[in-house]
This record gives sequence, C-alpha cells and structure tokens, in this order.
Amino acid sequence: MQKRKRILTGDRPTGKLHLGHYVGTLANRVLLQDEYDVCLLVADYHMLTTRNGKEHIQEVSQNARELILDYLSVGIEPDKTTIYIQSMVPEVAEIFLIFSMLVTVPRLQRVPTLKDVMRDLHIENPSAGLLNYPVLQAADILIVRADLVPVGKDQESHIEVCREIARRFNQLYGEVFPIPEGLFGGDGATLVGTDGNAKMSKSLDNAIFLSDDEQTVQKKVMGMYTDPTRLRATDPGHVEGNPVFAYHDAFNPDTAEVEELKERYRNGKVGDVEVKKKLIAALNTFLQPIRERRESYIAQAGVIDDIIQTGTATVGQEARETVSKMREAMGMNYYSA
Ligand code: TRP
Repeated sequence: MQKRKRILTGDRPTGKLHLGHYVGTLANRVLLQDEYDVCLLVADYHMLTTRNGKEHIQEVSQNARELILDYLSVGIEPDKTTIYIQSMVPEVAEIFLIFSMLVTVPRLQRVPTLKDVMRDLHIENPSAGLLNYPVLQAADILIVRADLVPVGKDQESHIEVCREIARRFNQLYGEVFPIPEGLFGGDGATLVGTDGNAKMSKSLDNAIFLSDDEQTVQKKVMGMYTDPTRLRATDPGHVEGNPVFAYHDAFNPDTAEVEELKERYRNGKVGDVEVKKKLIAALNTFLQPIRERRESYIAQAGVIDDIIQTGTATVGQEARETVSKMREAMGMNYYSA
C-alpha cells in the first residue's frame, strides 16, 4: 500500500476556538483525517514570541486542554489524528537552529505578518524569536516531513519561507525533505465578526466560541450588527455585507429559509429580530453535537493527557529520525559508530 501523505498544522494555545476557526480550517481538518496522516501541534513555543511572561506560560496547560477539547468536539478523532505539544518534542529546537542558518535576516524582515504583529501589538523592536517565527514553523512542518500544510491565507508567507528552507537544505546537503504545499483554508473563507469586522477574533471581542452555551449564543446573536442603513423593519435592507446573513449562509443548512429571509429583508418585509431568532436556532442546531462530543470527552478522566502522551511519543520518534537523517546528510554524525 502506498504511504499516506502527511499533513501538519496547528494552533498557538492562546484561547478557545470560535466559529471563524471552524469555517477557516477546522471543518477541513476533520475531512482530511480520513485520507491523510494528520499531525496537529499545540504551538506553545510560538506563543512565546509574543507572550512570554510567567502569567502567560501558566495558562498554557489549561489552554492546550481547551484547544484539544475544541478539536475533539468538532470531530477530530484521536485514532486518526496525532495531537502533540510542540515544546515536549525537544528536537524542534535543534532543527530550528540548523534552519536558522539557511535563511537571511532581510528575508525574514520582509515576511508581512511580522509587520502586522508589530503594529497590532505595538512592538517597536522585535525579538530575534519573533523574527524567526516562520523558521520555527518550518521546523514544525519539516520535523515530521509533512507534504501538506492546511492553514489560513494569512500563513501563506510562512509556508513560502518553509519551502525555501527545505529546498535550501536539500540543495546544500542532499534530499531529506519533501517540499510542502500550503492548503489554504475553506475556499479562502473568513468569517466576519459579530460586530461586522472583517475577521472574527477573540481579541476583538466579536467571536462566538465553539464552547458557548445556548444562552451565550442567543445573547451574542441578538447583539449582532446588521444593516446600519436600515432604521425600521419596513425599510428595504442590505443582505450583502450583513453579518447576520453571512452566518446564515455559513451555518443554516435550510437554504430555502435563508433565501426567503433574504428576499423579505431586501423588500422591508422582515425585522432583524426574526432573522436573528432563526440564526440562533440554526447555530444551536449546528453547535449541539459539538457540545455533546465535548461533554463526552470531559467525562472521560485522563483522556486528554493520554492523547497528548501518545501523540508526543509518536512525533518524538519521527523527530529523532528526522534529526538523524539531517545529521547524516550534513556529515554531522561525527562520532556515531
Ligand atoms: N503560525 C500558526 C498560526 O498562528 C500556528 C503554527 C505553528 C502552525 N506552527 C505551525 C501552523 C506549523 C501550521 C504548521 O496559526
């Protein structure tokens, strides 16, 4: 049998996942696990590039647990997907070190996400670690010699750096790495925030989380932005660019209902409240099985720890093989018998 292609992707353990993550990447990961050998990492070293205070590190184990529960709740299955914690595989640091010699500082300074993060977090002088963020990501990807990397469009520049590093290594020392391809998420879809902001994000406080209960969903939807130009329910309304309809399109499987609501909305024949109530129902129907799966994993004591231990052992094994292939290709196995 032909070996399955390998996928690696992951998230920083900075908080729970929301509907935007679902649309952008989680739904895709669930599908991919049936056809590929999928590895998911909890990127705690990457978190340190912007949050390295003890108070942040203290939150990692709880955040990692929530993150893994989010994965499991949407249908990622531990029998199919290998889930592990980045810092528990120390070889990543060794590979990162070697890779940092294969890329120049100006090249990394041109990565657009660096400027974005510096602007958003008001960082004047980036640490060497932040500059090296894509190099560390390349180490994650190549440590398991992944073929495909499903990520959001915002990560495209990082995948490019990774491909350059893999090519450079192979060219200097011999073919060790496949050149991985990015798989850019759920037809490039990004979900708008509840406030109409282009992106749903925890830090913008405009997110509906996968772990939100019914009452929370109801409250958030009732507070959602709609069409700002529409003052009365009898005014013709705009469907395009209206977040409530964007969510209907993404989560309401009853397309006939959605089309009918849009029609009435355009003609000033339906109020925001009815449109929102139908959205609340659709979202709760969508989230119900997710909530149930989450509860069933929470009820199994120790299951998350087992998943982490098993996943980390599997990736550790791969990582040791990768390091020994690298050292051999480089001629750095000076003292091995
Ligand atoms: N940089 C990714 C993000 O912020 C997280 C990440 C770290 C990652 N290492 C990775 C994604 C390796 C894909 C592959 O979303």
